[in-house]
Amino acid sequence: MGMAPHGGASYPRAMSTLYEAVGGDATFRRLVDAFYTRVEADPILRPLFPPDLGPGKEWQYLFLTQYFGGPQRYMEQRGHPRLRMRHIPFTISPREANRWLQHMLAALDEVGIPEPYLGAMRNYFHQAAGAVIDAAEPERRAQATGQANLAGPDAGA
Ligand code: HEM
Repeated sequence: MGMAPHGGASYPRAMSTLYEAVGGDATFRRLVDAFYTRVEADPILRPLFPPDLGPGKEWQYLFLTQYFGGPQRYMEQRGHPRLRMRHIPFTISPREANRWLQHMLAALDEVGIPEPYLGAMRNYFHQAAGAVIDAAEPERRAQATGQANLAGPDAGA
């Protein structure tokens, strides 16, 4: 898909990325569209997002394509993802994170991502959604949920 790192040699299929395997840019566009359509209609999540959803949608698209093995466009245009830090301004309780996750899982189904990629993406979103819950207040979150801080690697790092 034009990004061969060593000058255009064609690699065996086994070395392709999840990004390529599920259909590249077009598939991720559909995924992000399906996800944002659900966020826009969600009375609990919509107020957390700014009036203009356009820019965030584009960052989401550039981030996810990069994260799953596509071109490093997010890094070039936005810098290191640092998703936990970027979510600190929003109050994300387990309730919000769960709704976010349900919308993303529904979007994966709508787009028709096949196994084994579906399972890999679901796992990533589960883990990453846990990582942005009250990122600024891990102790309060631990008390509220009775769980240890899910810190782990910075989501998307
Ligand atoms: C799997 C977990 C998540 C991932 C991968 C993710 C990814 C992203 C990305 C890439 C951005 C754009 C960052 C930038 O400005 O460059 C973003 C922004 C944002 N995220 Fe998340 N996020 C996740 C979970 C959540 C959750 C659970 C919420 C809470 C409902 C949330 C709310 C937001 C909001 C409000 C923005 C700002 C959007 C805007 O400025 O238009 N995110 N997220």
